[in-house]
Amino acid sequence: MAESGVPFDLGSNRVYFGDNLPILQEMPSAVVPLIYVDPPFNTGKAQQRTQIRTVRDEAGDRTGFKGRRYRTEKIASRAFHDDFDDYLAFLEPRLVEAHRILTPNGSLYFHIDYREVHYCKLLLDDIFGRENFLNDIIWAYDYGGRTKKKWPPKHDNILFYAKNADDYIFNTDAVDRIPYMAPGLVGPEKAARGKLPTDTWWHSIVGTNSKERTGYPTQKPVALLKRIIQASSRPGDIVLDFFAGSGTIGEAAWALGRHFILIDDNEEAMQVMAKRFTEMDVQFIGFDPRPYRAVVRQAEHVRSGPR
Ligand SMILES: C[S@@+](CC[C@H](N)C(=O)[O-])C[C@H]1O[C@@H](n2cnc3c(N)ncnc32)[C@H](O)[C@@H]1O
Repeated sequence: MAESGVPFDLGSNRVYFGDNLPILQEMPSAVVPLIYVDPPFNTGKAQQRTQIRTVRDEAGDRTGFKGRRYRTEKIASRAFHDDFDDYLAFLEPRLVEAHRILTPNGSLYFHIDYREVHYCKLLLDDIFGRENFLNDIIWAYDYGGRTKKKWPPKHDNILFYAKNADDYIFNTDAVDRIPYMAPGLVGPEKAARGKLPTDTWWHSIVGTNSKERTGYPTQKPVALLKRIIQASSRPGDIVLDFFAGSGTIGEAAWALGRHFILIDDNEEAMQVMAKRFTEMDVQFIGFDPRPYRAVVRQAEHVRSGPR
């Protein structure tokens, strides 16, 4: 049973509203062959700690022993370290649950910011075993301003782990092929077939004018997630994303004939998914999607006229 009291049904599409940890803890073991997650960057509470020292100074603002005057000097401000510790402590129990929920031949794709990836890799090596690490996929894009102080960072990392690197689903024949960079060098037949993607994926972000755009700030492109689903699951399989946001993995899974379980604790994400999945067969748990779907249906009703 799920926290909501609704039993887990692995043959249908479900969206859960709430903190993912208790919901994951209620899920059965070894049932999901593919988990993709794109956690928020640094959810820990910001703890600004300022270190100070006092120095003898007759014009100082503090009075000390025997009436001596001191002034206060700020040495350093340490904000991010505590933040960072909180972040890994937040992720760890959720990733332990993810490992438990994966089928023996299942895999995890963990999408993360380039500044955090190395620490998350160590955490995931502990949970999955270093021998089960398969790839650090680079999603490269070209967007936004370019700093002149260092090489402009224009990529995210996606860590790919199998539960068991000796036996896991990975079907390259099902993956959409991409054009060769120099098709003239490979001959017409190969050029027409295209090549398999490597571990570096060039793809633009979801642009402001894109048809895909939902308005959710951290939305990822459907094409990236389709590639993951094609390679690492089979038609009819269940795909889990417990940091679902706008529900991109749900859209990709639906298009490829997979089922999905999505979790998010943000009401705005629920509203976006309710609208995005209006035409799909999806059950929402802990949230009523109807008001957000109704907007679309109403508009369609007006377009087609009253019946
Ligand atoms: C980076 S966004 C995911 C974006 C998503 N991949 C997409 O394409 O739209 C991370 C999401 O995790 C959700 N989140 C953060 N902490 C959570 C928690 N404890 N339980 C459930 N969802 C959480 C946030 O609300 C946010 O929507």
